[in-house]
Amino acid sequence: MGRLRTIEDLGDLDGRRVFVRVDFNVPLEDGRVTDDLRITASLPTIERLRRAGARLVLASHLGRPKGTAHDDLRLDPVARRLEEAGGFGVRKLDEVTGDDPRAAADALGSGEVLLLENLRFDPGEEANDPAFADALATLADAYVDDAFGAAHRAHASVVGVAERLPAAAGRLMQREVEVLSRLLEAPAEPFVALLGGVKVSDKLAVVGALVERVEALLVGGAMAFTFIAAQGGDVGTSLVERDRLDDARGLLSRAEERGVVVVLPEDVVAAAKASAGARKQTVRADAIPRDLMGLDIGPATVEEFTRVLADAKTVFWNGPMGVFELEPFALGTRGVAQAVAGIDAFTVVGGGDSVAAIRGLGYEDAVDHLSTGGGASLEFLEGRDLPGIAVLMEG
Ligand code: 3PG
Repeated sequence: MGRLRTIEDLGDLDGRRVFVRVDFNVPLEDGRVTDDLRITASLPTIERLRRAGARLVLASHLGRPKGTAHDDLRLDPVARRLEEAGGFGVRKLDEVTGDDPRAAADALGSGEVLLLENLRFDPGEEANDPAFADALATLADAYVDDAFGAAHRAHASVVGVAERLPAAAGRLMQREVEVLSRLLEAPAEPFVALLGGVKVSDKLAVVGALVERVEALLVGGAMAFTFIAAQGGDVGTSLVERDRLDDARGLLSRAEERGVVVVLPEDVVAAAKASAGARKQTVRADAIPRDLMGLDIGPATVEEFTRVLADAKTVFWNGPMGVFELEPFALGTRGVAQAVAGIDAFTVVGGGDSVAAIRGLGYEDAVDHLSTGGGASLEFLEGRDLPGIAVLMEG
């Protein structure tokens, strides 16, 4: 892999307008940001640019409004949270392009910060429409991309603007690429991957890539049931992707060929349905009663995963072990969070839910890196070229 251009490559930024693509796609509840990791993670880039005397035009997407304005996806709560976290004023605009943003960008003083409205209110963003990219590019003299979480999207603010202005990676983008490259290129062994989440289909490609690199693969979450069913286990009413059983078998046999240890849950916490009040019981993962579904990994599985993790020198964790937003099914995810935080290894956690579990337990300082990218970190580990990174490479 070549070298990423960095802010230093942009030269003197004093008095220059810089378009900063951030990924402030954060969860909101009642108009408040409930998890600000993606906001605080971009503060080093914003501060670096402000100190250099740059005039900042920040831009992000939020949710999937599909090209039209939605009041509940405006960036006002994000602007307020950014002001609180950064300790500087943020002028939030209600438009993305047009006369107002242009006048506001021109009027910015050195070190001042403007935040455009949700980029995806304009259909030109996801379409990487040249006219939309032109309009965004007129707002600035240089481009900095800190939106690692959106690097797998070839959208106008990710690729189009970068092609039109002198472009570089921000500090967060640099750190994400550096850490994830280390997993791809030179992981200390044993390298253990811990994967969870609902759908195998979302993770097939990354499981396929990881099977070629890791010494052990621990699988939890609902996706484990497709693997268990593929081996002939009884999984009751648990979620199974029947059309992926062959893929699951293929991955298991490739793992066996390579000598990769695959650990599937041996016990699960099951109930008739996923609700906080449901009566739960712990049962064998391959002998789940007909009318029950597995909703979390059980205590014996947490113990086994913890045992395998204890020997790891590199760990990548993505995806919850169960329906952890419901208290009765949160113990598995919490248990592995504790295990990952407690080991002496290079530990990387990616994906909103697993990162939230680590932060919820106050373990953020005990892991080496919390990735702000969900889909982006998985695609990176698949070994794919992400368009938002490719466009920032030297040469
Ligand atoms: C994410 O949350 O993974 C990123 O912000 C990308 O969002 P998207 O999946 O809606 O493109």
